[in-house]
Amino acid sequence: MSTNNKVAIITGGARGIGWSTAEHFIDNGIFAVIADIGKCPKAFDKYINAGNGLFVKADVSKEDNIKKLIDLAYKKFGRIDFVINNAAIAFNKPIEKLSLAQWNKVVSVNLTAAFLTARYSAKYLRKTKGAIVNIASTRGLMSEKNTETYSATKGGLLALTHSLAISLSPDIRVNCISPGWIDTRKSPDDSQTPPPFSKADHLQQPCGRIGTPRDIAEMVLYLCSDKAGFITGQNFVVDGGMTKKMIYI
Ligand SMILES: NC(=O)c1ccc[n+]([C@@H]2O[C@H](COP(=O)([O-])OP(=O)(O)OC[C@H]3O[C@@H](n4cnc5c(N)ncnc54)[C@H](O)[C@@H]3O)[C@@H](O)[C@H]2O)c1
Repeated sequence: MSTNNKVAIITGGARGIGWSTAEHFIDNGIFAVIADIGKCPKAFDKYINAGNGLFVKADVSKEDNIKKLIDLAYKKFGRIDFVINNAAIAFNKPIEKLSLAQWNKVVSVNLTAAFLTARYSAKYLRKTKGAIVNIASTRGLMSEKNTETYSATKGGLLALTHSLAISLSPDIRVNCISPGWIDTRKSPDDSQTPPPFSKADHLQQPCGRIGTPRDIAEMVLYLCSDKAGFITGQNFVVDGGMTKKMIYI
């Protein structure tokens, strides 16, 4: 495999969109550092053994964990080119039942972590003229009921994105992706394929199907590449067109 020696840190990379992004980056010659509070997938061993990957057990809601993550990534590979803020959680419950502790937890994982990774990696990203990609959600733009913490933190990421893009310019480009419905049910070490979604689930999306993690990984890679060298501070909605569809009952 060819390598260009660039290095990406991907938070929440042990499954779902983060995992797909890590694999896609490695396939394109970029070293991937996965940071996750969960276990390292067995499927990542082959990349670690080949020297293309590093797994760091980290809780991104904790400042010292993020500092350690950035330090370890730099120590292992000697540079940092891309930071993908992907880890997220949600407590979807009625506002009367949502505690302040739960609110604060979601804010720390989904939003504060992106501030902290930027804070601690900026000095390395400036050197490499690197890029940050924040994974938000279409729920930062529109809502279902009982999604206050998730929606608010994703909306916060949109604003943090343009703010960082200006503060860190011209050295570091900072962009955001807002995925729609992405099927992340299958974990990297799962042998079984989940049951298919219904035709109606697929066909309600203007593109005619539910998204795949790879749909998002492709956009992350593009935004990190030189092809996106004139793009910063933007939010890219990758949702099969759902947020452009008018729904009147
Ligand atoms: N799947 C979707 O339909 C969808 C839609 C819109 C936006 N998104 C966003 O895309 C991103 C990835 O989504 P996904 O569905 O792949 O998520 P997921 O839940 O499948 O995986 C998230 C990963 O983050 C890790 N994680 C959770 N808390 C952490 C913490 N404190 N520190 C470190 N790691 C932590 C988990 O262990 C897990 O491996 C998230 O930001 C999510 O909000 C997903």
